[in-house]
Amino acid sequence: MVSTKNVSKSDEILSVASTRGFFFPTAGIYGGRAGFYTYGHLGKLLKSNWEFLWRKHFLSKDNFWEVQSNNILPEPVFKASGHLENFSECRVKCSKCNSEFRIDDIVLDDSKCLKCNNKLVLSKDDGFNMMFPLVVGSGEKAYLSPETAQGAYITFKDEFKATRGKLPLGLAILDKAYRNELSPRNLFFRLREFSQAELQIFFNPDLPGFPDDVEWKGIKDYGLLLAQADNNHKVSKVSCSDAFKKFKLPKFYLSGLVRVQKFFLDIIGVPSDKFRLFEVPEGDRAFYNRIHYDVEILLDSLGGFKEVAGVHYRGDHDLSRHQSLSKEKLEVFHDGKRFIPHVLELSFGVDRNVWLLFDIFYHKDLKKSDTLLFRFPKLLAPFQVSVLPLVNKEGLDVKALEIHNSFRNAGISSFFDDSGSIGKRYARNDEAGTPFCVTVDGQTLDDESVTIRVRDTSEQSRVKIGELIITLQRLLSR
Ligand code: GAP
Repeated sequence: MVSTKNVSKSDEILSVASTRGFFFPTAGIYGGRAGFYTYGHLGKLLKSNWEFLWRKHFLSKDNFWEVQSNNILPEPVFKASGHLENFSECRVKCSKCNSEFRIDDIVLDDSKCLKCNNKLVLSKDDGFNMMFPLVVGSGEKAYLSPETAQGAYITFKDEFKATRGKLPLGLAILDKAYRNELSPRNLFFRLREFSQAELQIFFNPDLPGFPDDVEWKGIKDYGLLLAQADNNHKVSKVSCSDAFKKFKLPKFYLSGLVRVQKFFLDIIGVPSDKFRLFEVPEGDRAFYNRIHYDVEILLDSLGGFKEVAGVHYRGDHDLSRHQSLSKEKLEVFHDGKRFIPHVLELSFGVDRNVWLLFDIFYHKDLKKSDTLLFRFPKLLAPFQVSVLPLVNKEGLDVKALEIHNSFRNAGISSFFDDSGSIGKRYARNDEAGTPFCVTVDGQTLDDESVTIRVRDTSEQSRVKIGELIITLQRLLSR
C-alpha cells in the first residue's frame, strides 16, 4: 500500500507498479538505464492481455495473419526503407558540458542546457541516426529494427504466394523495436527498446476491396472523433461519409480509422472525451506517410494528449524501394493487372498502451484511507480473481487451494494469496487491479460457502462453492 498524499499521479503509478510487480527500471541493481524497463509478473500479464485483445480485434478478418520476422535485419533493408538516410533527429549541444538534446525537447527562445543551464548550440552534423548498428558475423552491417513494419514488407512476396495470391492481405507483427533516443523521457513514451503491434494491409489502390460495400454501409454513419489541422486540432465528431466528402479521406483509410477508434473506445474502454484522431500536418509526417492521423489519449499522468498509435497510408513507398534495391519483383498480378500493392499501416506502441491503462483506470477513493485501485476491465486485469484463505484453521488452506485450482482449470486466471491481514490482502489485490476476491473462511468448512468481494464497490456476497465458477463466469462476462 502506498501513501498517496501530495504525490503526483505518475509517481503513484510508479510506486504501485514497482511494489506490486508491474514494471521496474531495467538493471536496477546497476542503477538502471534511461529508456529501458522490465515488465514484472503483473505487467507482463497485463501486456499479454492487451495483445490478446489487439489480435482478436485486428486479425479477425479473412486473409489477415500474424507473422514473425527478426529484430536484426541487414543494412540493405534500411537503405531501401529510407531509415539510413532519414531516420535522424536534430540535436543541440551544450557549449559547456557537451550534453546533447533533441531539438524538440528544447524551447528555443529559452535555449539553455537541461543539465547545467549553459548555452546550447546546434550540433555540427545535425542528423543523428537513431538506429542501433550491429556487425553480424565477421563484418556484415546490420541494424536493430526501429519498426516491426520492415519485417512484413520483406516477407510480403513469400506470404502473398503462400496465402494464394489474394488482396487485401494483412500482415501483423507484434515484436520489439529499437531506437537510440537521445533523451529518453516520459516513462513508457520515449523508450530505447519497446514493443510495437503493427498491421500492414496490402491492397490494390485502384480497387481497394476494403471496405467492401457491406462494410462501408456499416461504417458510413459512424462518427469519428477527428482533430483536423485546419480546425486548430479541435475535436469534432464527423461521420465517415462526411469525412469522405469534406476531407477527401479515402474509404479504405476511413475503415482503418473506424477499426482503430472502436478498439480504443469499445474494447479497451477509453472514455470518448479522452480520445482524438489527430491529423498530423504535412511537414510533421514521417518521410513515408501520405495520410497520417495519430491516436492521442488524454493522460493526466503526463499532462495532456499523448500519441499511442498511428494510422499511416504509406502508399507503395516501401515495396517499390525494396523492389528496386533487391531487384526482386514485388509487384503482383491481381484484378487483371500488374501493380505494386499499396499499404495502410495501423501502428501501435504497446508500452504506451500499457501506460494508458494505468492512467485511465486509476481510481482513488478519497473516503477510504489512502489506497488506490486500478479498475482494469475484467479481460485486461492480470488476474481475474484472487483466492484468500481467511483464518489459519485446519483444512481451510486445502479447500482454498482446491478452489484456486478449479478456477485455473476453468480458464479463470487466479492468484492464491495467503499472507498478511485480510485488509492488507484486499488492498494489494485492488492495487493489482484484480476484479474479484474469493474469501474462504471458518463458515466455509461448515456450509460449503465462500464470499465474493467486488473490487469496484467493495460489496460482498455469499455463494455456495458448487455455484462459484458459474457465478464468476457470469460476473466476468458482464
Ligand atoms: N511503423 C511505423 C512507426 O514505427 P512511429 O510513429 O514511429 O511509426 C509507431 O511509431 C508507434 O510506436 C507510436 O505511435 C508510438 O506509440 C510507438 N513509439 C514510437 N517511438 C517510441 C519510443 N521511443 N518509445 C515508446 N514507444 C514508441
